[in-house]
Amino acid sequence: METTLLILKPDAVQRGLMGRIIFRFEDKGFRIVGAKLIRIDSDLASRHYAEHVGKPFYDGLIAFITSCPVMVLAVRGTNAVATARKLMGKTTGWEAEPGTIRGDFSNSRSFNLVHGSDSAESAQRELALFFSADEIHDYARDVDAWLTAPDD
Ligand code: RTP
Ligand code: MG
Repeated sequence: METTLLILKPDAVQRGLMGRIIFRFEDKGFRIVGAKLIRIDSDLASRHYAEHVGKPFYDGLIAFITSCPVMVLAVRGTNAVATARKLMGKTTGWEAEPGTIRGDFSNSRSFNLVHGSDSAESAQRELALFFSADEIHDYARDVDAWLTAPDD
């Protein structure tokens, strides 16, 4: 069982796609254990995207992610980190496979709708950046017994 951080980026909020994106993760069986709408400030943005400092697209990325409120989600399930990235598709919308979120809804390199942690270590670091411990809710669902088999 893993927990990953998702950010529904400003383009998802502006285009009214939050619900349809959340559907993809709920349909897969993931449990949303944290959710809130926040405006990311430049300090939080630079900490979140620290790995990209100095790259040509960095300034545009920070301007974009701070331009409008975003929805941050903590999403839990088996192999949540890697599976969320598969549901999202490749970074660039025109390269992402149809059937993925980016493949179906984005045709841009920068406006790609959703962020997902890229490793278990990144997920831990990013969840701590965006959520306090009391904002993560570990509730049980009866349906989970039908989403994960005992021998998975
Ligand atoms: P993210 O971090 O947003 O989930 O996206 P990602 O892992 O798929 O992509 P990453 O390599 O971490 O890049 C972060 C964001 O920077 C923008 N980008 N622009 N112009 C470029 O070459 C370029 N490369 C990346 C994208 O918006 C990407 O989501
Ligand atoms: Mg990334």
